[in-house]
Amino acid sequence: MNSKELRQSFLNFFEEKGHKIIPSAPIVVKNDPTLMFTNAGMNQFKNVFLGNSPSNYTRIANSQKCLRVSGKHNDLEEVGLDTYHHTMFEMLGSWSFNDYFKQDSIDWAWEFLTKICRLDEERLYITIFQGDKKDNISKDKESLEAWSKHVPNDRIISFGKLDNFWEMGDSGPCGPCSEIHYDNRTKEERSSLSGRDLVNQNHPEVIEIWNLVFIEYSRDSKGSLSKLPDSHVDTGMGFERLCMIMQSCQSNYDTDLFKPILNKISIDSNTKYGVNENNDIAMRVISDHLRAVCFSISDGQLPSNTKAGYVIRRILRRAVRYGYTYLKFKKPFLYRLVDTFTEIMSEQFCELSSQSKLIKEVIKQEEESFFKTLEDGLRKIDLFSRQNQAQISGAQVFELYDTFGFPVDLTKLILNEKGLSFDMKEFENCMQKQKNRSKGATKLIMDDWITVHSKKEESFIGYNKNEQDISINRYRKVKSKDNEFYQLVFDKTPFYPEGGGQVGEKGCIVSEIESIEIYDTKKENDLILHFTKKLPKNLSSDFIAKVDIDKRKSSSRNHSATHLLHESLREILGNHIEQKGSLVEEEYLRFDFNHFNKVSSEDIDQLENLVNKKILNNLSLEEFIDLDINEAKQMGAMMLFGEKYNETVRMIQFGTSKELCGGTHVQATGEIGIFKIINETSIASGIRRIEALTGKEAFNYLKKENNQLVKIKEMLKSQDPIKGIEKILFQNKENEKIILELKNESFNQIVNKLKSKIELINNINVIVEQIDVSKKDIKSLCMQLRKSHNNLIAILINAKNENSFVAACITDDLIQKEFSANDLIQKIGQLINVKGGGGAPFSIAGGAQLNITDSVISNIKSLI
Ligand code: SER
Repeated sequence: MNSKELRQSFLNFFEEKGHKIIPSAPIVVKNDPTLMFTNAGMNQFKNVFLGNSPSNYTRIANSQKCLRVSGKHNDLEEVGLDTYHHTMFEMLGSWSFNDYFKQDSIDWAWEFLTKICRLDEERLYITIFQGDKKDNISKDKESLEAWSKHVPNDRIISFGKLDNFWEMGDSGPCGPCSEIHYDNRTKEERSSLSGRDLVNQNHPEVIEIWNLVFIEYSRDSKGSLSKLPDSHVDTGMGFERLCMIMQSCQSNYDTDLFKPILNKISIDSNTKYGVNENNDIAMRVISDHLRAVCFSISDGQLPSNTKAGYVIRRILRRAVRYGYTYLKFKKPFLYRLVDTFTEIMSEQFCELSSQSKLIKEVIKQEEESFFKTLEDGLRKIDLFSRQNQAQISGAQVFELYDTFGFPVDLTKLILNEKGLSFDMKEFENCMQKQKNRSKGATKLIMDDWITVHSKKEESFIGYNKNEQDISINRYRKVKSKDNEFYQLVFDKTPFYPEGGGQVGEKGCIVSEIESIEIYDTKKENDLILHFTKKLPKNLSSDFIAKVDIDKRKSSSRNHSATHLLHESLREILGNHIEQKGSLVEEEYLRFDFNHFNKVSSEDIDQLENLVNKKILNNLSLEEFIDLDINEAKQMGAMMLFGEKYNETVRMIQFGTSKELCGGTHVQATGEIGIFKIINETSIASGIRRIEALTGKEAFNYLKKENNQLVKIKEMLKSQDPIKGIEKILFQNKENEKIILELKNESFNQIVNKLKSKIELINNINVIVEQIDVSKKDIKSLCMQLRKSHNNLIAILINAKNENSFVAACITDDLIQKEFSANDLIQKIGQLINVKGGGGAPFSIAGGAQLNITDSVISNIKSLI
């Protein structure tokens, strides 16, 4: 079976068992502060497992794009070295939400593997949870009995918590799991040693393929388990591994998911796969990392210097680094593999083909800049190696890594080639210190939730109101390194939680006895959290939640204007424009989009005109709630890559602008007032950013500009300031010419006066004089003086203020006799304690207040 058929047969199988087949969630996570990337199929159902919101279906299956590169699940360093670990992989998943449990789940997994995939039963091994004394849970007998119907007991093995107990995080829903392992060794190997002995032993060919998790407990922040009222099933199968088995390969990289990429790398690098171990590792790293980077960019995460963007940058650099070191690529090569990869995957993931131009452009630019970094780093290493030390300091290597993004293993390799090493311990210390710093800065310690009321929790109800009677349902304390605050959950809330680029709302909750400030609102796995520094004295009393109306209005204006800007950009620059990020604050709006050129000032002008026209037309808000997603698509709603949409959506329409959006908006565009673009920049290759103001802020901005203009008109005493300034500029030029003429004239006079002071010292014409000429003009004067005489040394001193100086000039005939103004200035500098320099014809020193007495003058003369 090829990979497409295999993926489809999994989905068909579970569809027949009553499962709803849903699309993969984006690989980049937006609504969960504990996670940067989707690392398991169940991530998009965390809200259901946590009991925050119900699932629309009790049985679901899909193929999920996953990335395991940070945090609890991090396989990055393994990738490439073996043939079965990946950063990006697909997880074939099936779920039951309080529907069927262990028996059905086990029966169907077995049926799929043995009847549909027709795997050899003898080569399948099962692991189950052996129980744990500390957690006070016994062996998972239910799973054992369920498996016993299919598999003889000698192929069912018990393991402990590490292998067979799955936890979502440090706390939260969890439960025992049962894994299915496959023995992919040859017949001879299998007969000489039972696969049973190799299960969970990190053997490359006896590997886990499917994990069936039975969520039935919840762990609190102190580590204690309690039984959940509902029980769920969460299964995940490694698609690449299943492909390997089904395509009779020994390595995931030999399947049709990777083979075409390896072939292309092989052609581009003129290197055969399967000949040299290091080259093979490099090819595997590149093909794996390419997948991770392409999917992340297509889901909206560009490489950058912070957070998720930095993770992507590091993956990309790791791939380039392997290509550079082992496959001898000396210029960008990764972007040239994008088309091959897209061809393999785009049938299932159309975001790859529709964004392939952007993906290639972004990767190419990243590669170009990293190749430059590599060169800079190499130069630095070269410098280190010339310091004549046997061992380079770890701090220097850390600086290379930290400041230049230069990978440490590459530094090691290059130093080795030069017969050098570095202090690894010191490097690791620096690394650890940095990790501690960033961990300490971001780590949040959350207490468990404390229940106040148990009222039904509704989602946001504030689209049409900014005040609401509420109760506090639960609260928890959160501690960070230097902060302590509380998060409150209400039964219902008018506070908009940060999302879709719009910031979370602020305001207060008021009871009969007190008012408590809410300084932010955020959503975490569908739960709306209200942030406050202070808990109310009486948590169980009734409150009125009041949103700060001014701030709500400002954010709404900016959000609606963002929609109008998006539509106008497409009308003016073309239909290729897609939103790549946005920020809607009270003060301003920011909109990022793909476009390969700078937006010209004419286009900016047109954009402002068009958006303001839409504002003047006072288009009414048409809000479609609970609209079927397919209907929304048919109506022409803008949909964004990297966004997760439900089956029913909210669509916001202003005239012809239609966007799927959860934010707050104006009732009609006239409320926006004015729209003014204040900035247009590039934030990454092919991505532009527009910053703009609306309403009061735009008015204040324009007013400030206008006030300046009024002032300028007053100063110019003209109603036409452009003409006035043109006139001044013209006059300035004319004046400069006159000043130059006058200066020349006065220099002539000064030169003549100076020449009358010449005295002959050692047969040289010497002038040593105090003079009232500025530092700016002294060089011109000296040049004129040099031209007017031969055999001349002039030393001119201005000691009038703290910006005093002493200048020396010498005529060419003396320069030929090896006299130099600079030598002279150095000597004078020592004499009167000033510093400076210059060339042989002219040199100057100064800065300090000079005290030039007659004896100083005669000392200077005596130097000649
Ligand atoms: N959540 C489990 C895993 O990631 C099963 O899907 O392995």
